Amino acid sequence: MSGDGTQDRLSAQGLRLAYDDRVVVDGLTVTIPDGSFTVIVGPNACGKSTLLRALARTLTPRAGAVLLDGRPILDLASKDVARRLALLPQSPLAPASITVEDLVSRGRFPYQRLLRQWSADDARAVAAAMAATGVADLARRPVDELSGGQRQRVWLAMSLAQETPLLLLDEPTTFLDIAHQHEVLDLCAELHEAGRTLVAVLHDLNQASRYATHLIAMKDGRVVAQGAPAEVVTAERIRDVFGLACRVLPDPETGTPMVVPARRGAHTRASSDLPVPPSPVASP
Ligand SMILES: Nc1ncnc2c1ncn2[C@@H]1O[C@H](COP(=O)(O)OP(=O)(O)O)[C@@H](O)[C@H]1O
Ligand SMILES: [Mg+2]
Repeated sequence: MSGDGTQDRLSAQGLRLAYDDRVVVDGLTVTIPDGSFTVIVGPNACGKSTLLRALARTLTPRAGAVLLDGRPILDLASKDVARRLALLPQSPLAPASITVEDLVSRGRFPYQRLLRQWSADDARAVAAAMAATGVADLARRPVDELSGGQRQRVWLAMSLAQETPLLLLDEPTTFLDIAHQHEVLDLCAELHEAGRTLVAVLHDLNQASRYATHLIAMKDGRVVAQGAPAEVVTAERIRDVFGLACRVLPDPETGTPMVVPARRGAHTRASSDLPVPPSPVASP
């Protein structure tokens, strides 16, 4: 629920998510606050991408439901969902030898109909998305000839061209050098300020703390904490969620939490904490 008592646009209740027989997420309830820049963090394989897929309707829950604008997302037509919500997956695959412009143009599919093909509006959206992500100069290049960083920005452009109020980004900064990571995150912050609701999975906790207005920490398919970064990112929680000994200091640039891992040896367990080799058990 929002502060004013209305339902937020995107939420999930009692989700059970599985691949074949393997349940990855169970009993998960989460709300994406409207107008937030929500960042999801958590160890590898804890279910972040799986949750994002369910929120974007590319994975059908075994139990529970995702609600988009108050209705079960599975009840909505796929183009209807795609006009409200875009997902940039973690490892998207481009069709062989497609050009940048053609790939970005695919973001406009939810607006195409039998009697309304490509329009000036579509061309404008594609040009704006390529300009915002700095890939306009690459328009005629085949996507598979680009560097990882360039490709990532092209995918982001495709999601932007979809012009949705909700944008879900699974590790949008992977493959980017640190300058390009911040460039993409700054772009996300601008989109957020312009009124979009963003959900991004990020690995860098310091970046997550800087950019998130709402932080969700996951572990083993569950949400273990959520709220403002300063509430969520504490040394105790980082140890619990990631098994990492660290200190949390204020980021000198922004004042947001900054995780400084303990140096090797500084937090080695006392010898009394070390596992004791099993002693031979006397048979009864
Ligand atoms: N397509 C898939 N088929 C089978 N298992 C999968 C698939 N995708 C993810 N998994 C498994 O589900 C678990 C959660 O994966 P994922 O959601 O990708 O984690 P994260 O994004 O947090 O790293 C992992 O154990 C992973 O191996
Ligand atoms: Mg993932």
